Order: sequence, then structure tokens, then C-alpha cells
Amino acid sequence: MEKKIAVLKGDGIGPEVISHAIEVLDAIADKYNHTFHYKHALIGGYAIDETGDPLPQMTVDTCTDSDAVLLGAIGDPKYDNNPNATIRPEQGLLAIRKVLGLYANVRPVKVYSDLKKLSPLKEDRLDNVDMVIYRELTGGIYFGEKKKSASEASDLCHYQRYEIERIAKLAFDEASRRDYRLCLVDKANVLESSRLWRRVVQEMCRDYPEVTVSYLYIDNAAMQLILNPGQFDVILTSNMFGDILSDEASVIGGSLGMLPSASFGDKHRLYEPVHGSYPQAAGKDIANPFAMIMSASMMLRDFGLIQEADDIQSAIEDCIKLGISTEDINRDDANRSSEVTKALCNLIAGESLHSTVRNV
Ligand code: IPM
Ligand code: MN
Repeated sequence: MEKKIAVLKGDGIGPEVISHAIEVLDAIADKYNHTFHYKHALIGGYAIDETGDPLPQMTVDTCTDSDAVLLGAIGDPKYDNNPNATIRPEQGLLAIRKVLGLYANVRPVKVYSDLKKLSPLKEDRLDNVDMVIYRELTGGIYFGEKKKSASEASDLCHYQRYEIERIAKLAFDEASRRDYRLCLVDKANVLESSRLWRRVVQEMCRDYPEVTVSYLYIDNAAMQLILNPGQFDVILTSNMFGDILSDEASVIGGSLGMLPSASFGDKHRLYEPVHGSYPQAAGKDIANPFAMIMSASMMLRDFGLIQEADDIQSAIEDCIKLGISTEDINRDDANRSSEVTKALCNLIAGESLHSTVRNV
């Protein structure tokens, strides 16, 4: 198979985790005789430094001309404490989501048994945790009208029916492939926009009689995620609630460095880890590459390369079992990110680990 992949490294640890993902993809390409053409383009803080624009038109063109987009991470601390900055790295990320029409963000949350001890939750709460969050990605308060003056500011949370229907359909379809449970998370006791979500989902239920639908307010959902995370199968929610819940859900498994994501719309697909740019770790070869590599594996699955995607997933699970992993999940005997990546490539190629990994 031959595929064109746009690669947007972004900021902080973005470039490192992207290069690890490419090494692993190359190992897959070698093993299965595929050709992946990578085309790099600028986004985020780095793009601002180079061009003044967090999403240069050339980057958009590179993405629309590719079969998929891989994105590292976006964000630069020099903007974080400056509320007056009018150009910000995150604008690049929001804009690429919008121009590519990536309205559905899919964030699977899994707990690996060897990592249970790292969870902030008691181990008995971690049984049966296997959920996927369907986060709406191109609407809501992120994209509603913004107003500001010196003394006031507002962000409008606006949703149209079709925006809810199209992601709800994907979430219902996913529930029908999984455990037939869908939970809509909203704030329908307060927000009109949430009441529209409820109405639409209640109407759509009729087309999915086999799916059990439940409804939770966001405050209760945040609590339930900690009390009993195993109760969730598919969570459907709006842009900002999904952003918050997915960070919360990620640590249940022990590290934010373990959560991949896929975003898609009708035409394009983009794969990025849920974690951010983690600037404190940039350049130190310590960042967990698994979330980015699993995002690349989600891309392969969507290309129809199921065995290839499974190879990556099982190599990651083998590494976790063998204790070949970075410091966030391996506090006593951490490996460098580059060592972990080499080990993954060796496992994929069916080679011995002894030449590359110190602690095997
Ligand atoms: C995410 C991130 C982004 C978001 C930021 C960087 C704009 O937190 O992808 O979850 O809020 O969507
Ligand atoms: Mn987030």
C-alpha cells in the first residue's frame, strides 16, 4: 500500500514523539512492504516563530493533499501567561480542525493491567475500564462568537442540530460495535445548548433500539469517572466537556502519555496524542512515545491495515510487560524514549531486544 502522510510536529515534545512514530511506521512499512510518503509542515508556536502564522496556508495544502495527518503537540509556555497575546499556537490546532472539518474526536481509554499500580484510583475500581470518548471538535464554546473589551468578555456556546446529529450518529454506531451503551454528558439542567443535545440524542435513540442510552450532567460524570470508571462504554459529549473529561480519564490508566486520539470528518483524518507539548521534557529523550505511536496505529487501522495496527499495539503491550518504558510509567528503571522506540521496532521486526535495550 502507498500512502501520503502529512506530518505536523508542532511544539515541545511534538517533534520527538513524531520521529518515534515515524520510526515505528517505517518498521511496519519494511515488514509489510508498504510505502509511506511523509510531508512535513509547520504548525503552532514553531510556525509562528518561522512565519508569523500558527497555521500557514502551505500546511493546510499539505494536509488536504494527504491521505492522513499526524500531529505531535501544540503549545509554548511563552504564551501561557500572556493573556494579551493575539496570536497563539493553539489557534493553529483549532484552525486545522476547522478547515479539515474534523468534527469527531475519538479518544479510547484503556487500563493496562501492568500499569494498574500507577493509577491514582484504588485497583478494585479499575476492573473493566474500557471506554471511548466521542468529543465534538469543531463547534461549541471553542468556536462560538467571541467578544472582548477592557472590562468584559464572552464566549458563545452555540450548536446547530446537524452538528450534534453527525457526531451522535458516529457514537451510536460505535456503541453498536462495542457494548451497546452510550452515555451523553451535558449540562442540560442549565444550558440551552445541552438541552438541544438531549433532544437530538433522545430522537436518535429510536433508530438504535439495541443501544442503552444514559444521560449524565458533566459535574456528576466527572465524579462517576473517578468512582466507577468501568460503568462507561461510549461517552458522547460536546467540545469543552470532552476536552476536560478526556484529560481526567487519561490518568485513570496511570499516565496521560498513554492516550491516543483520532479526529475525523467527512473528508480528512488527523491523528494526535491527547497529551500536550510538555515543554519541560522537550529535548530530554524522556517523553512517553506510546500515545503518539498508538495514534499512528489508529491511522493504520483506518487505512485497513489491521494486522499492522495490531502489531504495534501488541509490541507496546509487550514493552509495558517487560518494563521497557519511560519514566512516567516506569519510575524505578526508566528507559529513554529512543530506547523504547528501538525496542518496539525490534519487536515488530521479530528481532531480539538484547542489542538495543539495556534492561531486558
Ligand atoms: C486537546 C488540547 C487542545 C484542546 C488545546 C491545545 C487547544 O487540550 O486537544 O485536548 O483544548 O482541544
Ligand atoms: Mn485537552
